[in-house]
This record gives sequence, structure tokens and C-alpha cells, in this order.
Amino acid sequence: MSTVTSELKKVTTHTIQAMKVKGEKIAMLTAYDFSMARILDEAGIDILLVGDSASNVMAGHETTLPITLDQMIYHAQSVVRAVKRAMVVVDLPFGSYQANSEVALSSAIRIMKESGAHAVKLEGGSEVEESIRRILMAGIPVMGHLGLTPQSIYKFGTYTVRAKEEAEAEKLVQDAKMLDELGCFACVLEKIPAKLAEKVTNSIEIPTIGIGAGAKVDGQVLVIHDMLGITKEFKPRFLRRYLDLFDQINSATKAYINDVKNGEFPNEQEQY
Ligand code: KIV
Repeated sequence: MSTVTSELKKVTTHTIQAMKVKGEKIAMLTAYDFSMARILDEAGIDILLVGDSASNVMAGHETTLPITLDQMIYHAQSVVRAVKRAMVVVDLPFGSYQANSEVALSSAIRIMKESGAHAVKLEGGSEVEESIRRILMAGIPVMGHLGLTPQSIYKFGTYTVRAKEEAEAEKLVQDAKMLDELGCFACVLEKIPAKLAEKVTNSIEIPTIGIGAGAKVDGQVLVIHDMLGITKEFKPRFLRRYLDLFDQINSATKAYINDVKNGEFPNEQEQY
């Protein structure tokens, strides 16, 4: 089966921006390793995000805070090696950009130089304006991230929907406009009311990519482990599971254990 965007022309920031103009939705998923990235790229995904959610789903941490810049670069290198068409965006992890714009720039340069990725993503609005400006000035494409920003979980206290109140919603709209004016090429909107996401999408030129932000945005992103049903307990309203891999892998593993214990694996054909 072929999709609208499945031909092997590399996806760039220009492709992504043109998709908004044409009204073609952008499909983004996270990836952290070579094998998975290869499957997603071959399927025709537009953007692969090496998200700091690797801290949760790959390393088993409760939050995204512990993952380091070196670890993000390791994941990004593995993804970049697999990709022929998709654009690869890498999260700047917690602690790699908040101190000041010089630190932010040197972290972004390390990601681009050492992994071969195509862009970076960082969380926040006006608080990180100077850092975004400097990274962009170095020629590195930046994807913004507003709404629920998991690196600030200890400030928020919970992972509930953000910007339901007027003041926070207004700041989010202003931040989105700022990201647009600075020259970011896209912006993730995480867990905000659908009406607000629609308003933001219509107020800015750059594409918005939603996660728990409704349908009236320019694209969607999900964490691959959630979308494939590997993470069993995580069941937010916005999540659509396309497989139940936890159960399927569990059953396959039980069948393998059984075959080994009963001497049924390997059989005559499976040996030399
Ligand atoms: O790290 C991540 O996976 C993300 C997405 C949820 C957007 O930032």
C-alpha cells in the first residue's frame, strides 16, 4: 500500500512547511533505535522524533528528567543510521539548554555534529527565547514544544491538560507567535484543549503537531511504545493503540519458553 508521502524524496523543513500550506497532515512518531526507525521510515513516516521520552520507555525512569545529552546522542545516531526519507528531530534533554543560550547552542551543535540529525526540539516559550534565537542563528532548525512540557513536571505537579485557564491560554498563544516569528519550523502542542490548539494553528504560519490537542492541528505525534501497545498501563484519552504488542510479545515469549523446556525447539529443520 502506498501513502501520499511515501516516495523517497527526503523530508526537510521546507517539505514540512509546504505540507501546512497544502493542507496535508504531518505524521510524526518517536523512535529511539535503529530497527524500529527503519520500519517507521519504510512505512512513510514524515518525522521521527528522538524524544526524551526515551527516558521513560527505553530506560524505565518515571520522568524525562534523568536522560543525558550523551544518551540522547546515542539514540539519535541509531535512528539516523536507519533513515532514508524521514526528517529526524532530536529533543534537547533537561539540563542541556536551560542554564543560558550558550549552553543551549553548544548542546544543539553536539546533537547535530555527533548524530547527523536534521533538527532539535526544545520545550518552552518566552523563557527560552534567547536560546532558540542563537540555535537558529547557527543554522540549526528548531521545533518548539508548548502546552504540557514534561521537563517541567515538578513545577506543574501533574500531567493533566494545560492552558484551560484564560491567562495560561493567552501566554501559550503569544509563545506560539513568538516561535513563529523567531523562525522555528514547527511546534508541538501537547495536551491542551482542542479549541485552543485550533486557534494557535490558525494564528501562526508554521505547522503545529499535536499530542492530545485534537484534530484541528497540522499533524499528530505519538510515542511509538504507546501507539503499539507496548506500554500497557498508560491510557490517556488521546491515545489510540494500533497494536497490543505487550500481550503479543508476552504470548510469543511464553510459547518460546514452552518449546525450549519441552525440547520442541529447535526441530530437525532448525539445525545443521
Ligand atoms: O519526548 C517525546 O516523546 C515528546 C513527544 C511526546 C512530543 O516530546
